[in-house]
Amino acid sequence: ENTYDTILVRREGRVGVIALNRPKALNALNEQTMTELVAAATDLDRDPEIGAIVLTGSEKAFAAGADIKEMGSKTGSDMYREDFFSAWDTFARLRTPKIAAVAGYALGGGCEAAMMCDMIIAADTAKFGQPEITLGVIPGMGGTQRLTRAVGKAKAMDLILTGRQMDAEEAERSGLVSRVVPADSLMDTALEVATTIAGMSKPVAQHAVETVNTAYETTLAAGLQYERRVFHGLFSTADQKEGMAAFTEKRKPNFSHE
Ligand code: CAA
Repeated sequence: ENTYDTILVRREGRVGVIALNRPKALNALNEQTMTELVAAATDLDRDPEIGAIVLTGSEKAFAAGADIKEMGSKTGSDMYREDFFSAWDTFARLRTPKIAAVAGYALGGGCEAAMMCDMIIAADTAKFGQPEITLGVIPGMGGTQRLTRAVGKAKAMDLILTGRQMDAEEAERSGLVSRVVPADSLMDTALEVATTIAGMSKPVAQHAVETVNTAYETTLAAGLQYERRVFHGLFSTADQKEGMAAFTEKRKPNFSHE
Protein backbone atom coordinates (compact mmCIF):
# COMPACT_ATOMS: atom_id res chain seq x y z
CA GLU A 1 0.00 0.00 0.00
CA ASN A 2 3.06 2.23 0.12
CA THR A 3 2.56 5.10 -2.27
CA TYR A 4 4.75 7.57 -0.40
CA ASP A 5 8.34 8.71 -0.93
CA THR A 6 9.38 9.80 2.55
CA ILE A 7 7.51 7.38 4.82
CA LEU A 8 6.85 3.63 4.91
CA VAL A 9 3.39 2.49 5.91
CA ARG A 10 2.43 -1.04 6.91
CA ARG A 11 -0.28 -2.83 8.86
CA GLU A 12 0.23 -5.47 11.50
CA GLY A 13 -3.23 -6.74 12.38
CA ARG A 14 -5.16 -3.80 13.80
CA VAL A 15 -2.03 -1.66 14.15
CA GLY A 16 -0.91 0.85 11.51
CA VAL A 17 2.83 1.53 11.47
CA ILE A 18 4.29 4.64 9.89
CA ALA A 19 8.08 4.80 9.65
CA LEU A 20 9.74 8.08 8.70
CA ASN A 21 12.12 7.26 5.88
CA ARG A 22 14.60 9.94 4.83
CA PRO A 23 17.72 8.17 6.09
CA LYS A 24 20.17 10.56 4.42
CA ALA A 25 18.68 13.51 6.31
CA LEU A 26 18.19 11.67 9.62
CA ASN A 27 14.44 11.78 8.91
CA ALA A 28 14.36 15.59 8.94
CA LEU A 29 10.74 16.60 8.49
CA ASN A 30 10.30 18.51 5.25
CA GLU A 31 6.98 19.63 3.81
CA GLN A 32 6.59 16.45 1.79
CA THR A 33 7.10 14.30 4.87
CA MET A 34 4.59 16.36 6.80
CA THR A 35 2.01 16.08 3.99
CA GLU A 36 2.58 12.34 3.53
CA LEU A 37 2.50 11.61 7.25
CA VAL A 38 -0.73 13.56 7.74
CA ALA A 39 -2.35 11.78 4.76
CA ALA A 40 -1.25 8.29 5.85
CA ALA A 41 -2.16 8.81 9.49
CA THR A 42 -5.56 10.28 8.54
CA ASP A 43 -6.31 7.19 6.40
CA LEU A 44 -5.38 4.88 9.28
CA ASP A 45 -7.37 6.96 11.75
CA ARG A 46 -10.55 6.65 9.66
CA ASP A 47 -10.14 2.91 9.09
CA PRO A 48 -12.34 0.90 11.50
CA GLU A 49 -9.89 -2.02 11.09
CA ILE A 50 -7.12 0.06 12.71
CA GLY A 51 -7.15 0.53 16.48
CA ALA A 52 -3.73 2.07 17.12
CA ILE A 53 -0.98 3.85 15.18
CA VAL A 54 2.76 3.55 15.77
CA LEU A 55 5.00 6.34 14.48
CA THR A 56 8.67 5.48 14.31
CA GLY A 57 11.94 6.37 12.60
CA SER A 58 15.19 4.47 12.20
CA GLU A 59 17.73 3.13 14.66
CA LYS A 60 19.77 6.31 14.36
CA ALA A 61 17.03 8.90 14.28
CA PHE A 62 13.35 9.16 15.00
CA ALA A 63 13.66 12.60 13.37
CA ALA A 64 16.41 15.23 13.68
CA GLY A 65 13.92 18.08 13.43
CA ALA A 66 12.20 20.15 10.82
CA ASP A 67 14.22 20.35 7.59
CA ILE A 68 16.59 23.25 8.22
CA LYS A 69 17.80 23.38 4.61
CA GLU A 70 14.25 23.69 3.25
CA MET A 71 13.19 26.24 5.85
CA GLY A 72 16.29 28.41 6.23
CA SER A 73 15.71 30.94 3.45
CA LYS A 74 11.99 31.52 3.98
CA THR A 75 10.93 35.02 4.97
CA GLY A 76 8.64 35.89 7.86
CA SER A 77 6.00 36.74 5.33
CA ASP A 78 6.36 33.29 3.64
CA MET A 79 5.97 31.58 7.00
CA TYR A 80 2.87 33.59 7.85
CA ARG A 81 1.24 33.15 4.44
CA GLU A 82 1.87 29.40 4.42
CA ASP A 83 0.87 29.16 8.09
CA PHE A 84 3.98 27.01 8.29
CA PHE A 85 3.66 23.84 10.44
CA SER A 86 -0.11 24.26 10.83
CA ALA A 87 -0.76 20.97 9.00
CA TRP A 88 0.73 19.20 12.01
CA ASP A 89 -2.41 20.14 13.96
CA THR A 90 -4.30 17.55 11.91
CA PHE A 91 -1.88 14.84 12.98
CA ALA A 92 -1.95 15.90 16.62
CA ARG A 93 -5.76 15.87 16.69
CA LEU A 94 -6.28 12.40 15.17
CA ARG A 95 -8.36 10.35 17.58
CA THR A 96 -6.90 6.86 17.14
CA PRO A 97 -4.35 6.22 19.92
CA LYS A 98 -0.87 7.07 18.60
CA ILE A 99 2.38 5.71 20.00
CA ALA A 100 5.75 7.22 19.13
CA ALA A 101 8.49 4.55 19.13
CA VAL A 102 11.69 6.58 19.42
CA ALA A 103 15.28 5.42 18.88
CA GLY A 104 18.17 7.82 18.35
CA TYR A 105 17.61 11.51 17.77
CA ALA A 106 14.23 13.10 18.47
CA LEU A 107 15.25 16.73 18.18
CA GLY A 108 13.28 19.89 17.48
CA GLY A 109 10.31 18.96 15.31
CA GLY A 110 11.20 15.29 15.92
CA CYS A 111 10.68 15.67 19.65
CA GLU A 112 7.58 17.74 18.95
CA ALA A 113 6.09 15.13 16.57
CA ALA A 114 6.71 12.46 19.23
CA MET A 115 4.93 14.64 21.79
CA MET A 116 1.90 14.92 19.45
CA CYS A 117 1.46 11.18 20.00
CA ASP A 118 -0.49 9.88 22.99
CA MET A 119 2.51 8.10 24.44
CA ILE A 120 6.22 7.77 23.77
CA ILE A 121 8.12 4.51 24.11
CA ALA A 122 11.86 5.12 23.95
CA ALA A 123 14.83 2.93 23.13
CA ASP A 124 17.74 3.36 25.52
CA THR A 125 19.51 5.11 22.61
CA ALA A 126 16.91 7.89 22.37
CA LYS A 127 18.01 11.52 22.65
CA PHE A 128 15.39 14.22 23.07
CA GLY A 129 15.97 17.93 22.71
CA GLN A 130 14.73 21.27 21.45
CA PRO A 131 17.87 22.73 19.83
CA GLU A 132 16.02 25.49 17.95
CA ILE A 133 17.65 28.21 20.02
CA THR A 134 21.02 27.23 18.57
CA LEU A 135 19.55 28.04 15.14
CA GLY A 136 18.28 31.44 16.18
CA VAL A 137 14.62 30.45 16.63
CA ILE A 138 12.39 28.78 19.20
CA PRO A 139 10.38 25.53 18.89
CA GLY A 140 7.52 25.97 16.42
CA MET A 141 5.65 22.66 16.43
CA GLY A 142 4.47 22.74 20.03
CA GLY A 143 7.69 22.29 22.01
CA THR A 144 7.29 25.23 24.36
CA GLN A 145 3.78 24.07 25.27
CA ARG A 146 3.77 20.27 25.14
CA LEU A 147 7.25 19.82 26.63
CA THR A 148 6.40 22.18 29.49
CA ARG A 149 3.18 20.30 30.21
CA ALA A 150 5.02 16.97 30.03
CA VAL A 151 8.12 17.71 32.11
CA GLY A 152 7.35 20.96 33.95
CA LYS A 153 8.87 24.41 33.74
CA ALA A 154 12.29 23.65 35.25
CA LYS A 155 13.28 20.95 32.78
CA ALA A 156 11.54 22.61 29.82
CA MET A 157 13.39 25.89 30.37
CA ASP A 158 16.68 24.00 30.75
CA LEU A 159 16.19 22.14 27.46
CA ILE A 160 14.71 24.99 25.41
CA LEU A 161 17.19 27.65 26.58
CA THR A 162 20.36 25.54 26.32
CA GLY A 163 19.37 23.33 23.37
CA ARG A 164 20.98 20.36 25.11
CA GLN A 165 19.98 16.76 24.55
CA MET A 166 18.29 14.61 27.19
CA ASP A 167 18.88 10.85 27.19
CA ALA A 168 16.15 8.21 27.52
CA GLU A 169 16.71 7.68 31.23
CA GLU A 170 16.34 11.39 32.01
CA ALA A 171 13.31 11.55 29.71
CA GLU A 172 11.60 8.75 31.60
CA ARG A 173 12.49 10.27 34.98
CA SER A 174 11.03 13.59 33.78
CA GLY A 175 7.76 12.08 32.62
CA LEU A 176 8.24 12.60 28.88
CA VAL A 177 8.27 8.92 27.99
CA SER A 178 6.14 6.02 29.21
CA ARG A 179 8.77 3.30 29.03
CA VAL A 180 12.42 2.83 28.12
CA VAL A 181 13.42 -0.48 26.53
CA PRO A 182 16.61 -1.90 25.00
CA ALA A 183 17.00 -0.61 21.44
CA ASP A 184 16.66 -4.05 19.87
CA SER A 185 13.26 -4.62 21.47
CA LEU A 186 11.80 -1.17 20.72
CA MET A 187 9.53 -2.20 17.85
CA ASP A 188 8.44 -5.45 19.53
CA THR A 189 7.43 -3.52 22.64
CA ALA A 190 5.72 -0.73 20.70
CA LEU A 191 3.78 -3.27 18.62
CA GLU A 192 2.83 -5.24 21.70
CA VAL A 193 1.49 -2.12 23.44
CA ALA A 194 -0.26 -0.97 20.26
CA THR A 195 -1.81 -4.42 19.73
CA THR A 196 -3.11 -4.42 23.30
CA ILE A 197 -4.69 -0.99 22.78
CA ALA A 198 -6.05 -1.99 19.36
CA GLY A 199 -7.76 -4.96 21.01
CA MET A 200 -9.85 -2.61 23.12
CA SER A 201 -13.02 -0.99 21.80
CA LYS A 202 -11.83 1.69 19.37
CA PRO A 203 -14.46 4.30 20.29
CA VAL A 204 -13.84 3.69 23.98
CA ALA A 205 -10.06 4.08 23.56
CA GLN A 206 -10.67 7.24 21.53
CA HIS A 207 -12.79 8.65 24.33
CA ALA A 208 -10.04 7.78 26.81
CA VAL A 209 -7.52 9.73 24.70
CA GLU A 210 -9.83 12.71 24.43
CA THR A 211 -10.64 12.69 28.12
CA VAL A 212 -7.00 12.47 29.25
CA ASN A 213 -6.11 15.29 26.85
CA THR A 214 -8.88 17.37 28.35
CA ALA A 215 -6.82 17.43 31.56
CA TYR A 216 -4.45 19.79 29.72
CA GLU A 217 -7.18 22.09 28.51
CA THR A 218 -9.51 22.71 31.44
CA THR A 219 -9.90 23.29 35.16
CA LEU A 220 -10.06 20.18 37.37
CA ALA A 221 -13.78 20.67 38.04
CA ALA A 222 -14.62 20.97 34.33
CA GLY A 223 -12.37 18.02 33.50
CA LEU A 224 -14.02 15.82 36.13
CA GLN A 225 -17.44 16.81 34.86
CA TYR A 226 -16.37 15.99 31.30
CA GLU A 227 -15.00 12.61 32.41
CA ARG A 228 -18.25 11.72 34.16
CA ARG A 229 -20.34 12.66 31.13
CA VAL A 230 -18.13 10.56 28.85
CA PHE A 231 -18.29 7.68 31.32
CA HIS A 232 -22.10 7.88 31.35
CA GLY A 233 -22.22 8.15 27.56
CA LEU A 234 -20.15 4.98 27.06
CA PHE A 235 -23.03 2.99 28.58
CA SER A 236 -24.83 3.52 25.28
CA THR A 237 -22.16 1.53 23.42
CA ALA A 238 -22.42 -2.15 22.54
CA ASP A 239 -18.84 -2.57 23.74
CA GLN A 240 -19.67 -1.54 27.31
CA LYS A 241 -22.39 -4.21 27.38
CA GLU A 242 -20.00 -6.77 25.89
CA GLY A 243 -17.09 -5.85 28.18
CA MET A 244 -19.14 -6.17 31.36
CA ALA A 245 -21.00 -9.29 30.18
CA ALA A 246 -17.66 -10.95 29.35
CA PHE A 247 -16.37 -10.21 32.84
CA THR A 248 -19.46 -11.72 34.44
CA GLU A 249 -19.34 -14.76 32.17
CA LYS A 250 -15.58 -15.21 32.85
CA ARG A 251 -14.58 -14.97 29.18
CA LYS A 252 -12.63 -12.58 26.99
CA PRO A 253 -14.63 -9.70 25.51
CA ASN A 254 -15.20 -9.64 21.78
CA PHE A 255 -15.54 -5.95 21.03
CA SER A 256 -17.47 -4.82 17.94
CA HIS A 257 -16.02 -1.29 18.14
CA GLU A 258 -19.52 0.10 18.35
N1 CAA B 1 17.36 19.43 8.64
C1 CAA B 1 17.98 19.16 7.49
N2 CAA B 1 18.98 18.26 7.37
C2 CAA B 1 19.37 17.63 8.48
C3 CAA B 1 18.78 17.87 9.73
C4 CAA B 1 17.71 18.81 9.79
N3 CAA B 1 17.05 19.08 10.92
N4 CAA B 1 19.39 17.10 10.65
C5 CAA B 1 20.34 16.41 10.01
N5 CAA B 1 20.32 16.71 8.69
C6 CAA B 1 21.20 16.18 7.64
C7 CAA B 1 22.59 16.77 7.74
O1 CAA B 1 22.62 18.04 7.14
C8 CAA B 1 23.41 15.74 6.99
O2 CAA B 1 23.22 15.93 5.60
P1 CAA B 1 24.50 15.98 4.61
O3 CAA B 1 25.07 14.59 4.73
O4 CAA B 1 23.88 16.27 3.31
O5 CAA B 1 25.40 17.02 5.16
C9 CAA B 1 22.72 14.43 7.37
O6 CAA B 1 21.40 14.80 7.83
C10 CAA B 1 23.40 13.71 8.49
O7 CAA B 1 23.55 14.61 9.58
P2 CAA B 1 24.95 14.86 10.32
O8 CAA B 1 26.08 14.65 9.39
O9 CAA B 1 24.85 16.19 11.00
O10 CAA B 1 24.91 13.67 11.38
P3 CAA B 1 25.65 13.62 12.80
O11 CAA B 1 25.48 12.20 13.27
O12 CAA B 1 27.01 14.21 12.71
O13 CAA B 1 24.78 14.60 13.76
C11 CAA B 1 22.75 15.54 14.68
C12 CAA B 1 23.47 14.28 14.11
C13 CAA B 1 23.37 15.93 16.01
C14 CAA B 1 21.28 15.14 14.89
C15 CAA B 1 22.87 16.70 13.69
O14 CAA B 1 22.47 16.26 12.41
C16 CAA B 1 22.03 17.91 14.02
O15 CAA B 1 22.36 18.67 14.91
N6 CAA B 1 20.88 18.10 13.30
C17 CAA B 1 20.03 19.24 13.46
C18 CAA B 1 19.20 19.14 14.75
C19 CAA B 1 18.34 20.38 14.90
O16 CAA B 1 18.81 21.48 15.05
N7 CAA B 1 17.00 20.19 14.84
C20 CAA B 1 16.06 21.27 14.97
C21 CAA B 1 15.61 21.70 13.62
S1 CAA B 1 14.60 23.17 13.66
C22 CAA B 1 13.08 22.64 14.11
O17 CAA B 1 12.83 21.48 14.29
C23 CAA B 1 12.04 23.72 14.27
C24 CAA B 1 10.79 23.31 14.96
O18 CAA B 1 10.48 23.70 16.07
C25 CAA B 1 9.87 22.40 14.33
